[in-house]
Amino acid sequence: MTPVNKYRGVNMSKAKSSRDRRIAPPGITRVTRSSINPQDSQRTKPTDSGLVDDLSLMSVSEQQASLARKGKSYQSSSPSTKAVLSSPSGRSVPRGALETIGRLVKLGRVRNIVVVAGAGISTASGIPDFRTPGTGLYANLAKYDIPYPEAIFNIDYFSDNPHPFFSLAKELYPGHHRPNYVHYFIRMLHQKGLLLRMYTQNIDGLEKLCGIPDDKLVEAHGSFATAACHLCYTPYPAEEAKQAIMNGNVPICTFCAGAVKPNVVFFGEDLPEKYFQHAEDFPKADLLMIMGTSLKIEPFASLVNTVKSTVPRLLLNRNPVGPFERRPLRRADYMELGDLSDSVRKLAEILGWHTEIQDLMNSHENGLCSYIDPSNSSGENSDSSETDSMH
Ligand code: OAD
Repeated sequence: MTPVNKYRGVNMSKAKSSRDRRIAPPGITRVTRSSINPQDSQRTKPTDSGLVDDLSLMSVSEQQASLARKGKSYQSSSPSTKAVLSSPSGRSVPRGALETIGRLVKLGRVRNIVVVAGAGISTASGIPDFRTPGTGLYANLAKYDIPYPEAIFNIDYFSDNPHPFFSLAKELYPGHHRPNYVHYFIRMLHQKGLLLRMYTQNIDGLEKLCGIPDDKLVEAHGSFATAACHLCYTPYPAEEAKQAIMNGNVPICTFCAGAVKPNVVFFGEDLPEKYFQHAEDFPKADLLMIMGTSLKIEPFASLVNTVKSTVPRLLLNRNPVGPFERRPLRRADYMELGDLSDSVRKLAEILGWHTEIQDLMNSHENGLCSYIDPSNSSGENSDSSETDSMH
């Protein structure tokens, strides 16, 4: 099995475009005024040096401290994990990663957060991630009789034999799972006017389902929401494709007779055009939050290296990944290792948002229930008006 896969070649929407070309191609959707919260312009932009001053107050997170105390390997020699905050009494008070980031947010020093996410944000919704040994999807594909696990998402393999993917797709199609607290936390970032953009690798659709608006979301690995021929890219009605797949049939392109697939990005395919918006977003970010991803897949993984070096990067994950595996950590890098839901909840509590997120989650989930509940006589999604009014 190839540990790191490379996307190459063909733009999902059609045009040829090299995977490694990371500059925005002509015609890219530009960041528009409407995608930035109007409140932003009223805030004072912090200087980089001011930010660095704040960051120098950082100390090791509680979980890391605990690991360090036990002599485990996540001790960091990063200056940022050794600095301490001086209390008014002159005594040193260590700050954890979450407290430091929470403080920056509360001080208004952060206003353009970019979230980078992967399958780990959806495990609390009951969807396995890909690479966790034992439970990850790639450890559980024996029944599909494929040469190596990632073949199931390989476009050349699909071209020869679409059946394994279509069998799996029956389970992957959105509809069975609900967003969890982590998704709603990200939506709350948006509602607070702090979310510049969320870049997700997930294809479960839970970001949209929890109410993160389209213009704040980049589904870098595509989604099941649309479908097209894998050869000529002629669009195909997504619902018809789904019905065919659910019935065990291969949807066929009416133009070239190629197999149609949902527009999930396979290995060997290019990422959607919207992905290239990163060239404008990442230089604007003043906080990068990396959640629940192994950062193993390019070109997505390298995005995290495109923020300015003074920009704080917070990793929330079970284990260190990508640049967080190196020692020493970059000065502005922070990580909170452990269960993502726990970490996000702690951060929400530090920010004083926990109750608000729970209320949002409850009201939105009730709205979703009444929307899909056939006994709901009005048949309306009560949540859509709530969402609109909040934006
Ligand atoms: P991975 O499965 O590679 O990584 C998930 C990461 O989340 C791992 O580091 C886990 O330890 C961590 N994790 C899982 N559950 C967690 C939890 N409850 N709390 C904290 N951490 C948790 O998934 P991705 O990085 O998203 O591509 O994988 C990237 C891409 O590889 C996917 O988009 C997919 C796959 O091949 C395609 O489908 C095209």
